[in-house]
Amino acid sequence: MTLSRRGFLAVGAALTLTSCGSEAKPAQAGELLRSKAPLPEPFKVPLPIPPVKKPVRTDAAADYYRVVQRKARLEILPGLKTEVMGYDGLLPGPTFDLRSGRTTVIEQVNELDSSTVVHLHGGHTPATSDGWPLDLLMPPGESHAGHHAMPGGDVKTGSRTYTYPNTQRAAMLWYHDHTMDYTAPQVYRGLFGVHIIRDDEEDRLPLPAGDREIPLVIADRAFDDNGAFLYPVAKDGIGVEPQYMEGVIGDVTLVNGAPWPVHEVDAVRYRLRILNASNARRYELAVDRGPAKFVQIGSDGGLLDAPVEHKTLVIAPAERFDVIVDFSPYQPGDEVTLVNKLDNNANVLRFKVARKAVDESSIPAKLSSYAVLPKPAGVVRRKWRFSRGDAGEHKGWTINGKPFDPAVMQAQVKLDQDEIWSFVTDVHHPVHVHLAPFQVLSRGGGKPGGYDAGWKDTVDVRPAEVVDVLVRFTAHKGKYLIHCHNLEHEDMAMMAGFETI
Ligand code: C2O
Ligand code: CU
Ligand code: CU
Repeated sequence: MTLSRRGFLAVGAALTLTSCGSEAKPAQAGELLRSKAPLPEPFKVPLPIPPVKKPVRTDAAADYYRVVQRKARLEILPGLKTEVMGYDGLLPGPTFDLRSGRTTVIEQVNELDSSTVVHLHGGHTPATSDGWPLDLLMPPGESHAGHHAMPGGDVKTGSRTYTYPNTQRAAMLWYHDHTMDYTAPQVYRGLFGVHIIRDDEEDRLPLPAGDREIPLVIADRAFDDNGAFLYPVAKDGIGVEPQYMEGVIGDVTLVNGAPWPVHEVDAVRYRLRILNASNARRYELAVDRGPAKFVQIGSDGGLLDAPVEHKTLVIAPAERFDVIVDFSPYQPGDEVTLVNKLDNNANVLRFKVARKAVDESSIPAKLSSYAVLPKPAGVVRRKWRFSRGDAGEHKGWTINGKPFDPAVMQAQVKLDQDEIWSFVTDVHHPVHVHLAPFQVLSRGGGKPGGYDAGWKDTVDVRPAEVVDVLVRFTAHKGKYLIHCHNLEHEDMAMMAGFETI
């Protein structure tokens, strides 16, 4: 295909500039897509826990895995079947549970009928395994002349091996599809999963563990009357229908792949590792009753130096929050529901407190000892402006006025050098940088926000706001990406390449 979609983006969808940067509440960006299937009753389906992936072999150098990307028909809504595109046919895919510094080699096999790209989000990964959007893995049989064939990528057919050195501190990363122009629909259909890295520093902490440590992968979807996923693909098959260019918001909330599930807990502390895997939806999570709050212990890039308490948790697409919730003030029989305050307290997940139990966990006042970076003087500064493009032909989303062009590197960035990057927005954009985490220095000219602590790789930049971050890339030279993680914005070209040198 050609990049003609860039021309197609000349559409008239009205963008509502909801407010200016002084607004305290984050707004929802996106367009609601309603299910045609009857919505299931909430809290009937138990919370699934994605299985932990086992290596096929292991040696002194690495652990080796094999994942098959395939279609599967899953019962997501009770009584209906949904065709998913899943890693090992699962939604979410299997969880990788790994040690820092130990290399993971994953053979990805494509048995789908479209090309894919795997990206490890938050990974300190060599460029050849980072999932450049044109480094396609094509299913066997699809010819290079197919609609995905584009110049400039390292294209493989059938299977491809990704190597992750995991040379980074303990954190919950995630992996997901990153195919140019098709990320949003392919993630929507199931190509995402969790990648947990552990290390000795974290293992020494008396945090809740075992079945009291739970990944919660939240993603909204809409369903057709036969159970199929609804997604508003544009008429020409590329990108999203114009009226959804702000983002696709579904009316069913899945947690670990189940609609509004329920989970039985003991009246003790739990460690909830929350990922917003939604294409566009933001959440402000709150508990509907009682004293429970969120004690944040970690963010995208691992543990904070000290815990931070939140009454509610605002989480944009691709962000992770590692929190402790204490159920000990509740009585057996109590029900505690996680709701989304940004959406009229819509349901997300219910906990049923089953019994009193012994709790040996605690939350240390000091969690980790990473350096909080001082704001250096005289560093390289770069500005990344995220906006709707209306210059020239392109009317989609742009960075610094340019739609994504895989042939263009918007910056050459020296390794081992501190840089201050400013993210500037028109409307709400969750901004993500590959290869290195960053620390938020300021938001709107003032202090970092309440959810900006620690090492981040995705930061929610509100309408007409500027967020400054300090970033330093290390070890790997090559082509990497900065982009908006609203996946409809990303597919509609709000992405830029940069090169580390
Ligand atoms: Cu989560 Cu470039 O991606
Ligand atoms: Cu990423
Ligand atoms: Cu955006």
